Amino acid sequence: MFSIDKFDIKLDTDHIGRHFFLCEELDSTNTYLMHDKNVLHGTVVLAEKQFKGKGRLDRIWISGKGLNLTFSVLINRKKVFKKPGFVNLTTAVALAVAIENLYQLRTEVKWPNDILINKKKVAGILIETSLQGESIYKMVVGIGININQAVFNGEFRIEPTSIRNELGQNVEREKFLSEFFNIYEEYIEKMIKNPEYILKEWRERCYSIGESVTVTQGENVKYGIFEDIDEKGALILRLQNRKEKINFGDVSVS
Ligand code: BTN
Repeated sequence: MFSIDKFDIKLDTDHIGRHFFLCEELDSTNTYLMHDKNVLHGTVVLAEKQFKGKGRLDRIWISGKGLNLTFSVLINRKKVFKKPGFVNLTTAVALAVAIENLYQLRTEVKWPNDILINKKKVAGILIETSLQGESIYKMVVGIGININQAVFNGEFRIEPTSIRNELGQNVEREKFLSEFFNIYEEYIEKMIKNPEYILKEWRERCYSIGESVTVTQGENVKYGIFEDIDEKGALILRLQNRKEKINFGDVSVS
């Protein structure tokens, strides 16, 4: 079982992870926080097992019990709500930096929010927002990271991997989580004060910028050059005689 003591001793944040709920089983940590009345910034819910773990675009997220990290962070900062699309990029960069710092593994970010190692997916992010009228009232950032799972059964859009498989040894989940939160809190501040820094860090890790890509949006498929991302986190796709901003979908190098 995840040890709160081991996690807490290395946590160096003001808010993120300071209210921490550990559950053995839950439908989904995102669903839990979305329905919870609590709106305290930085609250975290971590489940050892989710039986209805949600992925992006109505997919499911499957993760072996007690092996990985599946958790959600409640974000309640008005300044962050001004750039909701940017939270994806900030979270992805913070995850990549935590993996690089702790394990010296080379990471890649894949638009909009996958983290890859050696072209295989090690982490995914699902952000949900709760609205009051037209304004965001709270944001739930759900993160799944494959830490110590060795075998993945099933069919996957991108082949999965784990830190353990890439490193060749098991790692301490608690240490990863506290390191990630320390970096995440710092990067959320950077996102508010210096968004260009986050864009630069994201671009440096995205190897498909400049490549011919296929964007799939349900039945709709578009081909073009992945030109860049904008300050809202949208993908800028160069088509034959125009540019289009893409806000959702799957991207693969053609
Ligand atoms: C994706 O890559 O499709 C996003 C996966 C997000 C999975 C995490 S696991 C914790 C949180 N709770 C959920 O139900 N989903 C997210």
